[in-house]
Amino acid sequence: GDAELQRHFDERIAHDQRIEPRDWMPEGYRKTLVRQIAQHAHSEIIGMQPEGNWLTRAPSLRRKAILLAKVQDEAGHGLYLYSAAETLGVDRSELTEKLIDRRQKYSSIFNYPTLTFADIGVIGWLVDGAAICNQVPLCRSSFGPYARAMVRICKEESFHQRQGYELLMTMMRGTAEQREMVQEATDRWWWPSLMMFGPPDADSPNTQQSMAWRIKRHTNDELRQKFVDMTVPQAAALGVTLPDPELRWNAERGHHDFGEPDWSELKRVISGGGPCNEERLARRRAAHEDGQWVREAAAAHAAKQAAREEV
Ligand code: ACO
Repeated sequence: GDAELQRHFDERIAHDQRIEPRDWMPEGYRKTLVRQIAQHAHSEIIGMQPEGNWLTRAPSLRRKAILLAKVQDEAGHGLYLYSAAETLGVDRSELTEKLIDRRQKYSSIFNYPTLTFADIGVIGWLVDGAAICNQVPLCRSSFGPYARAMVRICKEESFHQRQGYELLMTMMRGTAEQREMVQEATDRWWWPSLMMFGPPDADSPNTQQSMAWRIKRHTNDELRQKFVDMTVPQAAALGVTLPDPELRWNAERGHHDFGEPDWSELKRVISGGGPCNEERLARRRAAHEDGQWVREAAAAHAAKQAAREEV
């Protein structure tokens, strides 16, 4: 009966064994995964927009080729993740409809504008750096398809992070004006990057259950701390200042202390009130509608092929 199935499931989780799509799972586990994986996939797809904004204005052919490759990787990540979600019995088109109807979320970070080319470097360094911190532990997530998708995604994210850091290193060797651009972009992206990890643990309704199910391996605050500790020496090597007067090494804790992000800003951005929410969703909706004929043509082609094979 159900109690037996639940006991078997709990045991597998306790022994760090993977749950696979055909295994019995509690309904709450399935729902949580659909929610998190869909939100993750949507973030990758919406995340193409802020950087795509600079594709036609990249300063050299080399920078353009790198940026194009990165944006294409993000499309790929979105598609892997939609496929992982589909193993849980939902449909990609249904998830897309929910995104454009504002019934599912995507990461707050992609609701900020990319104002200069230094933003491209800072997104790689800070935003992809934060994404790596959050996603490496997800390679050990208890749900097999999600964990396996994360392995490849993380490899590509490290390339993204490195290209950003290298771009910034190059700009820092440039003119005073270029160095100023890097500092100014760092000042704008620092706090929103810290918010990517989600609300503080005390205000995170999902963390406890997701940790018990081993979907999440660390809490939001643990990962945020890890990111700060990792980033401080990188900022020093780069020669930029992180815009937090409270940031300092705490020898007793063996970690950096840092200031409190503005949690009301995170709430506002998550609920649709960030600087670019309207624009991002409108663009996503238009792309979906413009693609309608492609989906219809692909379906008609598939139906014809199937009919031909039957003869
Ligand atoms: N942006 C948008 N929504 C967020 C954010 C954020 N930065 N942080 C938390 N939320 C949402 C949660 O999805 C949750 O929404 P819901 O319950 O209404 O559906 C709510 O705020 C409360 O937060 P938590 O209880 O902390 O939610 P959760 O346990 O899911 O933790 C986290 C949030 C850390 C983002 C988790 O879902 C996760 O690790 N997701 C996978 C990584 C990911 O999505 N990355 C996307 C950005 S990186 C990239 O794409 C390059």
